[in-house]
Amino acid sequence: MRTEVLSDTDINIQKAAGIIKAGGLAAFPTETVYGLGANALDGAAVEKIFLAKGRPNDNPLIVHVADIEGVCFVAGDIPAAVTKLMKTLGGAPLTYVLKKKPCVPYAVTAGLDTVAVRIPAHGTALKLIRAAGVPVAAPSANRSGRPSPTTARHVFDDLSGRIPIIIDGGATAFGVESTVVDFTGEQAVILRPGGFSRERLEELMGQKVYYLKKTDKNEGGAQRSPGLKYKHYSPSCKIAVVRNDGGIQENLINLYDFYVQNKCRPVIICQTGYLQALGGRTSASLGGSAEEAARSLFRIFRELEGSHGVMICHLLPDEGIGRAFNDRLLRAASNGPDTPPRSDEK
Ligand code: TXA
Ligand code: MG
Repeated sequence: MRTEVLSDTDINIQKAAGIIKAGGLAAFPTETVYGLGANALDGAAVEKIFLAKGRPNDNPLIVHVADIEGVCFVAGDIPAAVTKLMKTLGGAPLTYVLKKKPCVPYAVTAGLDTVAVRIPAHGTALKLIRAAGVPVAAPSANRSGRPSPTTARHVFDDLSGRIPIIIDGGATAFGVESTVVDFTGEQAVILRPGGFSRERLEELMGQKVYYLKKTDKNEGGAQRSPGLKYKHYSPSCKIAVVRNDGGIQENLINLYDFYVQNKCRPVIICQTGYLQALGGRTSASLGGSAEEAARSLFRIFRELEGSHGVMICHLLPDEGIGRAFNDRLLRAASNGPDTPPRSDEK
């Protein structure tokens, strides 16, 4: 299959919408990362997403809709506080896990009775959903396990030949995925930190919001956030993580020098404040703010993975979007239980 990459004109968006309506796949930009969309009401179309990505089929998908009516079409028993939140926010990098309605096939929810729904805050994504006239199931448009795509080029690199069309809307604004929040219980629980901060959610809801504990399960023992058990976001080289507890500069330098001695072709990935102290050591900048760091992380992974044996990167303060950055960095650096240790590791 030839993969077309088309600019985000109305005609091209119509073309992608037509493909989705007809049961095919189309990749498109959102404000977080690029998504790989299919008609969420069509189980056979949704199966194609899992095939194209090589995604384990016990990892459910997010359903994208254009407005609150769209949310109500796929989800029921929506708490009043959530409706209020949606009315205040409109589109946002926030995904609501709610009770699923029967029209959503279990292929989308991986057998769960809940559905994850998001209204994106991106003109192209909204136009596409409206033109398709159906809710659009869309995971990030990368091969499973790879860093999420923040440009159309990244999507092409991972999925060329496997999908018919990519709508190019330029680089995405957030660079990390949406915050996934479970609203089906007494308390809102963040299953995956992302572009929408816990602090902002607490402020808007007027209550404490908790992060899912790694050990949390549903009553039947099911994983509450199936995606979390898989290794994710990983570039093809090793990642070494430096803690955010003082001495970041020294730790970056010590690790770098150690890896040079061991002929591992290291590169330091750090915020601009640390760059000057690195001397001539090879480095890439995460910019000055946590927002810039989140926006750049996956792009830097992809740009540098081919030319380095190890990327050395430091954590950020664990607040705001820094929490999502840290989550992605730590998960990229770890081996999930589904993947064997890499051949270059003992
Ligand atoms: O920003 C984003 O969220 C992007 C763009 C394209 O919208 N999408 C995205 O999708 O990151 P994906 O498939 O890469 O991640 C979806 C996450 C996974 O961790 C999955 O386990 C979780 O959402 N999820 C989906 N449905 C769920 C459900 N019913 N209950 C709990 N977690 C769910
Ligand atoms: Mg993903």
